Amino acid sequence: GIVNASEMIAQAHAQGYAVAHFNTNNLEWTQAILRAAESQKAPVIIAASMGAIKYMGGTKMVADMVRDLYESMAITVPVAIHLDHGNLEMAYQAMNDGFTSVMFDGSDLPFEENLRETKALVAKAAELGVSVEAEVGSIGGVEDGIVGLGEIADKQQVVEMANTGIDMLAAGIGNIHGAYPENFAGLDLGALTEFEAATRHEMPFVLHGASGLPEDEIQTAITLGVAKININSQLQWAFHNALREFIVSDRDLEGTNYDPRKLLRSGVEAAQQAAEEMIQMLGSANKA
Ligand code: G3H
Ligand code: ZN
Repeated sequence: GIVNASEMIAQAHAQGYAVAHFNTNNLEWTQAILRAAESQKAPVIIAASMGAIKYMGGTKMVADMVRDLYESMAITVPVAIHLDHGNLEMAYQAMNDGFTSVMFDGSDLPFEENLRETKALVAKAAELGVSVEAEVGSIGGVEDGIVGLGEIADKQQVVEMANTGIDMLAAGIGNIHGAYPENFAGLDLGALTEFEAATRHEMPFVLHGASGLPEDEIQTAITLGVAKININSQLQWAFHNALREFIVSDRDLEGTNYDPRKLLRSGVEAAQQAAEEMIQMLGSANKA
């Protein structure tokens, strides 16, 4: 069913794999993610950023769309509807409008404020049965026009945030949104090892910015307690490449390749395939 992320993340953490978080943008993207999860028999997190929520028409629109597709497509795997990098206002709104999971990204606030607001949010989320992700340190790169500094999280802050009752924690370890630079030095897996030990191996960590990361870095991160992996750009790259190829090839679909349902098909299928490959790589296939 449509569930919060607590149980699927706890199970992944206990069994040593990671659940895929995919960002959605529209109807087709949501269908592609649901099809990928169902075909792989994998639990999945469908996420929407604040920008994507605005684009799609609001939190209720997004939550209802995922729920309605879940029914009409006869999906059977567990699916969470998650707010990605939300501010406080959006986190409360999403919880009230049918999201089952929220990330409060207070990484741009003073730490004490981030901690205090996260605690308050956790209390409200518990009443509603919603799971919560928080962030310490920050994720580098640009997403939806928001520029992150990419600070490695502070160990003490990791411990304090882990004790707020959150379900999962995004701790910056040099990961960035979007493409990684040519000279990327790799994730700070030493820092992750310390966070893992400092939280007594009890806190499921979230790795943002998985697109373009070498597979061995991802696999190692999973062995160090990462149980949720956020993927956005990877599906966009797959969609864009396939769609561009289709348009450039000017294949004629009985003279109606201007029909958006035909026009978008190659891109949507490529996005689905990219999602399936990610699910397999994270080890969450056949875990539903
Ligand atoms: O919150 C979303 C993710 O961290 C996505 O990052 O576009 O690099 O995969 P990505
Ligand atoms: Zn992110």
